[in-house]
Formats: sequence, C-alpha cells, structure tokens
Amino acid sequence: MNVHASALAKGQRPDPKSSAFAVDILEGLSKQPKQLSPKYFYDVAGSELFEQITVLPEYYPTRTELGILHDKGAEIAAILPKHAALIEFGAGATTKVRLLLEHAAFDAYVPVDISGEFLNAQASVLRKDFPDLQVHPVTADFSTPFELPEAIKAMPKVGFFPGSTIGNFEPHEACGFLRSARQILGPGALMLVGADLEKDERALHAAYNDAAGVTGRFNLNLLVRINRELGGNFDLSAFTHRAIYNRERHRIEMHLVSRKAQTVRILGRSFAFRTGETIHTENSYKYSLERFTALAKGSGWKPRASWTDADGLFSVHALVASE
Ligand code: AVJ
Repeated sequence: MNVHASALAKGQRPDPKSSAFAVDILEGLSKQPKQLSPKYFYDVAGSELFEQITVLPEYYPTRTELGILHDKGAEIAAILPKHAALIEFGAGATTKVRLLLEHAAFDAYVPVDISGEFLNAQASVLRKDFPDLQVHPVTADFSTPFELPEAIKAMPKVGFFPGSTIGNFEPHEACGFLRSARQILGPGALMLVGADLEKDERALHAAYNDAAGVTGRFNLNLLVRINRELGGNFDLSAFTHRAIYNRERHRIEMHLVSRKAQTVRILGRSFAFRTGETIHTENSYKYSLERFTALAKGSGWKPRASWTDADGLFSVHALVASE
C-alpha cells in the first residue's frame, strides 16, 4: 500500500509535505542497509537538540567557526565586494551571519531555507538590528535551483554556506551543490563555505558521542518524529546511538543500532531488524584543506583564500566563480 492509500485507509488526508517525508522514510527503511536522510533531523525538537549540541564541550565545530569568523572578520571583509548581497544557503541561528554583517557593509541579505516561518521571524529581527540592510528571505530548497529576488539581481553576490553542512553531502553531491550555487549566484560571485577538517580520531569520536548524550537524543529523535508524524511504533529503548569515524571515507557515520530482533510498523508497512542491524542516519564528511580546494576547483570555483583556527580544527574557504 502506498502512503496515500494508507493515509486514506486511516481516514487521514495525505499532506503533500509529510508525504515527501513518508515516501523517503519508507524507501530508506526498505534499503539494505537501511538509511535515512539527515535532513529529517530538524523538526522543532530536533532543531532545539541541535542548538544544544552546538554548545557541548566536545562539539568544537560551531564555536570554532564562530571564532574564525570573529578573528578573521576584517581579512574576510577585505576580499568581499562593496554593496553586495549576501545569500545564505540554509538559514539557522543568525549568530554567524551577524559576524559577517558587522564586518562588511552588505546592502542586502537573502536567507534561503525550506522553512518559511522560521525565515520570516529571523528576517524581522535582523531588519531591526541592521536598519540599512534590505532583507529578502526566499523560501526554497537550497540544494535545487531557485530564483534570486529581483531587488538584488544587479548587486555583486556573496554566497554563504557555513557550519560544514556541506559535510552531509556525498562528495559528488557536494560538487553538484557547488555547481548549482555557482549557477544561481552567477559570474563574478564569491562564496564563503565552512568545512570541518580531518583531525585526531578521538576528538572526532568525542564530538559525536558526547558525555551528556545529547547527540544520541538528537539521533533518536528521528524515530520519535516517525512515530508522531507517520504513526510508527518504534520502541525507543530498543535502539541505541552509535557514531564511528570511517577513516577510508573521511567521514563520521551516525547509526541507530537495533538492540534486538524486532519488527517495526509504519503506515501499514513492516520493517524487520536483526539484532545489531543499523539505520545509517548521517554522514559528516571531514576535509583536508587540499581535498576541499580540489573539490571546489572541480565544481566551477577558484579557491581564493582559506582561514583556520590555531588548532586546525575547522576551515572557512573563500571561492570565486570561475568563468
Ligand atoms: C549540521 C551537519 C554540520 O555534521 O556536525 C552534529 C550535524 N550531527 N552532531 C555535523 C550533527 C551530529 C552537523 N551538521
């Protein structure tokens, strides 16, 4: 039975947005090995848990990137065009973009995100704090082509993709994203991208297996969401969080491990789990400076500058669109 049919059978009306979620979840759990997209972590509870992750002692990326944007702000601003529009791909907390707005005088800010509600709330706060800044939110999935607002078309463009969100993509998808960003921003554009660096395996392991267990709750929240939104019957106590570093592929992998043989029902479908079988929920790719610049070069961009913190934990790259 498909998602629509099972929703109808239960007397519910299929909601197109939750349907995309439903289709992806049913498909992902039908794969061998089972795999779900990390983009579904971020419902309200998941976004709150992620905010908690960003201030954990073990989770270095957020505070390190903020430190780089703060310490190197003047250097970064020096290579940015004047009277430019800043286009942020995916818009979370405004902390990072504020650092850029404070260092460089942008004429416009264009946050792009699928969640329009969140965007508009964020936009009105920024308008208050930066009265000379035009704010033009765009509700769109930033990984697919979208139109820039008419008002900024004539301005020089600076893309911003912080947080090492690029690490969630497979390398070929990261290349596809950078190509599409190059297309959207147009010739002459500049792009600032945050990328987490490869490092000591213990530091990576700790960052994704925090002592307080917040990352585990973040991971398990995906099952909570499936239970709530799709009427699933995951027993949360029968799955555990696991994050491992895959050295050959330069990535942290997050999994949910089934503690026993069990069957889970979602929207009229059954999914069997063996003891120890996992759902692969996230990859977080780590780059060396060399591997990141090679990726950028292969995706229509010329590396212009890179900045890291003193400990070499995280990197921010400035790229210029190549002809
Ligand atoms: C938001 C994708 C950058 O990969 O570090 C944090 C998500 N997952 N802890 C990351 C995440 C577990 C995060 N990104």
